[in-house]
Amino acid sequence: MKAFDQTRRNLLIGGSTSLAAVATGLYAQTPTHAQPWGVDNTSIWPTDPEQIREDHTRIQRMAWWHQATFGMFIHFGPYAVLGHGEWAINREAIPIPEYSRYGKEFLPAAGCAAGWAKLAKLAGMKYMVLTAKHHDGFCNFNSRLTNWCSTKQGPQRDLVQEYVKAARDEGMRVGLYYSLMDWHHPDGARCFSDEGARLRFVDYTHGLIREILTNYGKIDVLWFDVPWPLDATGWESERMNKMIFDLQPEIIVNDRNRLPGDFSTPEQRIEAATGGRAWESCMTLNDNWGYQIGDEAWKSPLTILRNLITCVRDQGNYLLNIGPSADGSVPVPAQKILAEVGEWLNRNGDSIFATDHCQIRQNNTSIYTRKGNTLYMHIFAWAGDYAAIAGLQTKVLSAKFLASGQPVHFIQNRLGVRFTDLPNRAPDSPLTTIAIECSSEPTQNTPWERASDELR
Ligand code: GLC
Repeated sequence: MKAFDQTRRNLLIGGSTSLAAVATGLYAQTPTHAQPWGVDNTSIWPTDPEQIREDHTRIQRMAWWHQATFGMFIHFGPYAVLGHGEWAINREAIPIPEYSRYGKEFLPAAGCAAGWAKLAKLAGMKYMVLTAKHHDGFCNFNSRLTNWCSTKQGPQRDLVQEYVKAARDEGMRVGLYYSLMDWHHPDGARCFSDEGARLRFVDYTHGLIREILTNYGKIDVLWFDVPWPLDATGWESERMNKMIFDLQPEIIVNDRNRLPGDFSTPEQRIEAATGGRAWESCMTLNDNWGYQIGDEAWKSPLTILRNLITCVRDQGNYLLNIGPSADGSVPVPAQKILAEVGEWLNRNGDSIFATDHCQIRQNNTSIYTRKGNTLYMHIFAWAGDYAAIAGLQTKVLSAKFLASGQPVHFIQNRLGVRFTDLPNRAPDSPLTTIAIECSSEPTQNTPWERASDELR
């Protein structure tokens, strides 16, 4: 069995034998390394026993994540006080002594993490990833290794601890983001050219990672970011991953510490990884990750859902970001958008979660997902009258609106299928989904249909 044959749905039912077979098959995968943060390890045949251990447990470790599908990313730190986005310290060349005041003025309201977790649940999300430490080096947790952390600055609280509890209380899986790049630590840049600085900084980095993976119980995802300025050898990434899996044997790790890890992370774009490799598209809700006071470029619920559906169609996850303001509150437009997304998912979640790869994609008004022999047609531009799928290669047995269960008439011939007698106005919003029961796996063959004499 190829790794690619393992879909979200059969991961739920696959036994240990098939899991082992797939784990072995993983060596056939070709990780996509064309990422700006660059993966060094170009060998896809690991010889290191630790790497082999990780690869053999990957399918089991990642089963929940494939089911979870939709997650909340949270960028939160002292940069929210300034409200110029999370790169401000770099983009505006703010000296450290000046930036320090944002650490002191960073005063999140009590219970803000509970608010994020409730919002994630409302939006239909199943996991969360919080910035434990972003590029400004600020640790949202209690560290013995630095004073630049939430317990010793403005918050006077352990924000990671509050977040982990809040997420667990809402039944969310828990992820922590960790930026290797650090603009605050004196060795953060110097480590590139000074071996003494590198040794100190690697110690510090491994030490902080040890803290976040030791002090908060089970952590489900470690989400690395920007490995500048070191390579995998410089970060001692293999030793780092060994420590991570020793501390948290069931954790999953992304691909940004210059090792391939468990999944790829296309950023602000949707691009399926090849060879059956897991992937997650991360995206902002407006144009910024961290709070940006003037950013009103909100994506609509329709855009969010189209993105989610596009990820799901190709078996990817969608990690959607919120950037709370300094008191921890989520901008009201973001709350409204996420609530609307969640309402749609309440009605149409069957077409999103635990689905299979979907081959059908040619249409200007709809996008598709699939579960077994059921095809879900998500119509985003409602034209009333009828809706059609050209070149459908299977027999339609029945069709209904997913949200209401109301049957939909259809006419099928060798050219495709038309759903007829549709109401003038879309019955659901922002997309209307038709669940189409087929006699075998639905696929599409449009070149065939164009060549057919039946069109003449
Ligand atoms: C980029 C940005 C960073 C953000 C991340 C999310 O790496 O530098 O600010 O946290 O994307 O993927």
